[in-house]
Amino acid sequence: MKSTISCFLLLLIVVPILASSVEKKVYIVYLGQHNNGEKAFHEIEKTHISYLLSVKESEEDAKSSLLYSYKHSINGFAAKLTPDEASKLSGMDGLLSVFPSHGKHSVQTTRSWEFVGLDEGDSYSWEKLKMGGEDLLSKAKHGKNVIIGVMDSGVWPESPSFSDQGMDPTPKSWKGICQGGVAFNSSNCNKKIIGARYYVKGFQNAYGPVNATEDYLSPRDIDGHGTHTASTAAGRQVSDVAAFGGFAKGTASGGAPLARLAIYKACWAIPNQPKADGNTCFDEDMLAALDDAIADGVHILSVSIGTAKPLPFEHDVIGLAALEAAKRNILVVCSAGNSGPAPGTLSNPAPWIITVGASSLDRAFFAPVKLGNGLKLIGQSVTPYKMKKMSPLVYAGDVVVPGVPQNVTGQCLPGSLDPNKVKGKIVVCTRGAGLRVGKGLEVKRVGGVGFVLANAKANGNEIACDAHLLPATALTYDSGIKILEYINSTKNPMAVVSPGRTVLKYKPAPFMAGFTSRGPNVVDPNILKPDITAPGLNILAAWSEASSPSKLPEDKRSVKYNIYSGTSMSCPHVSGAAALLKAIHPDWSIAAIKSALMTTGNILKFRDMIFTRSVP
Ligand SMILES: *[C@@H]1O[C@H](CO)[C@@H](O)[C@H](O)[C@H]1NC(C)=O
Ligand SMILES: *[C@@H]1O[C@H](CO)[C@@H](O)[C@H](O)[C@H]1NC(C)=O
Ligand SMILES: *[C@@H]1O[C@H](CO)[C@@H](O)[C@H](O)[C@H]1NC(C)=O
Ligand SMILES: *[C@@H]1O[C@H](CO)[C@@H](O)[C@H](O)[C@H]1NC(C)=O
Repeated sequence: MKSTISCFLLLLIVVPILASSVEKKVYIVYLGQHNNGEKAFHEIEKTHISYLLSVKESEEDAKSSLLYSYKHSINGFAAKLTPDEASKLSGMDGLLSVFPSHGKHSVQTTRSWEFVGLDEGDSYSWEKLKMGGEDLLSKAKHGKNVIIGVMDSGVWPESPSFSDQGMDPTPKSWKGICQGGVAFNSSNCNKKIIGARYYVKGFQNAYGPVNATEDYLSPRDIDGHGTHTASTAAGRQVSDVAAFGGFAKGTASGGAPLARLAIYKACWAIPNQPKADGNTCFDEDMLAALDDAIADGVHILSVSIGTAKPLPFEHDVIGLAALEAAKRNILVVCSAGNSGPAPGTLSNPAPWIITVGASSLDRAFFAPVKLGNGLKLIGQSVTPYKMKKMSPLVYAGDVVVPGVPQNVTGQCLPGSLDPNKVKGKIVVCTRGAGLRVGKGLEVKRVGGVGFVLANAKANGNEIACDAHLLPATALTYDSGIKILEYINSTKNPMAVVSPGRTVLKYKPAPFMAGFTSRGPNVVDPNILKPDITAPGLNILAAWSEASSPSKLPEDKRSVKYNIYSGTSMSCPHVSGAAALLKAIHPDWSIAAIKSALMTTGNILKFRDMIFTRSVP
């Protein structure tokens, strides 16, 4: 009896809550293409609302559930629906697909825990590169008539890479706008950044209003990622720049330094999470951005965004929008993803996209660690801090606080190290879980004087260089084993870490970065992907001055240029190279451009197209 009563009570309480909160998710309802010019915008929106009316109770309900009505090239809408409403809609005539928004795509350096930052490419023969490069550049007039749309985390418009000094007026074909917002107004656009917009409805639907201390409600970039990718594709030639600490000093330049940029901000900082953990880009926001970009008149779209796992074509908004772009001869270049080396991890698998993997340059940042037995291991680092003397060396797994799970004991995750056992010592941490820069921070937090990051087996020889907050170096897998063997071999292991220095003509180069996502293309194994590789390991480019080189909240340093890694960095190299080809051959189809890039992309020729570089 008693239990019946409590059940009854429970029901009374639960039922009303359920009724009022059947979960509404955002769904993308895709109708295919528009018949060009057939309908006015308000009629298109009316059609979209009429679909909603058939599942919602009132017109008010229908209108308030609508986040976006896509009107230009993409025909569809994004709306808040219950699963029931979505399934009713998906049975209707005229709808190609109805699918839940994949909430969280990320810019493809979010695997920042697997990310580095070296720098841009100098090469086998600088003279040769310069000749080939200058020739191509001048034939292409530095890309001045080409408009590259960049969908990312926005832009830091004050960077010298976006100066419009001496540039011709904006091309007449341009139909975009410069959308104002927080810390951004029409004065922030110029003849280089000819357009800027932002898309936030999906983000705000999920997280609430943008918190002004966490992001700018405007095209301004608080992260650095969007500024980096935009300047790699089309930044001006700026001499005498360097990363924090003076690394990679030289001239920075985008692939097509006089091409125009149109900025589409669709990626936002995740609330209550360090920027270093990455940001998020919602399907519905990206679709709106791409719909506008196509209508605005971009020639090339550079999209360094993807999913951790491949999506089927009919649920892949970047792929769907890219198809509409391709029909209009707009080239879409996307990053392959940073989920390697595991197989089948590739994102952006559609055949009408150029999908870009990431490889190394022949530049390194030598930062040797000298051991007490005299052995010197050549690590790499873009951290400039000096260590005064030999100090005791420990392996992180031997100095953890109780309760750290066995499988992550050597990894220096936040809170895992014991200050009593670390103070005054150099700590060897291994890669795996957690942010690389976060591991260095943990060593610093507990009073360590130096930090050695050892690759896990999966990372191989791909060296992770970051601007750490204390003297630091990073080792290949083989060198990592050697330092651990040394620690095991003696009672009082000692070491000293030297600051990094920039080294050119490093070999072997290029090699594929371990993080670059791999085929096979699980969505359609008949289509081989990635299509091409480009420099993506340790790339120097412009940065947001509202960010720090490590993006950690504890990091108060500010830089104009930063070294970063990912297929996010390689993608805009190809966008810039494509812009030059487009400028030389305005009549070529995008298929011809893609074919030319892929079939001439041997090591040297591809290098001829790569100008984001640092010249000694
Ligand atoms: C844009 O903002 C800047 C700085 O606040 C201001 O000086 C400038 O007048 C503004 N321009 C326009 C067109 O509103
Ligand atoms: C905004 O973000 C800051 C920093 O993350 C946080 O301290 C603050 O509480 C947030 N404000 C709101 C209204 O959430
Ligand atoms: C470590 O093991 C725990 C539980 O056994 C698991 O949840 C976690 O994902 C593992 N972490 C890593 C990095 O493998
Ligand atoms: C160092 O010693 C530990 C404990 O004996 C062992 O588990 C580990 O494999 C050794 N490491 C190397 C690289 O020899």
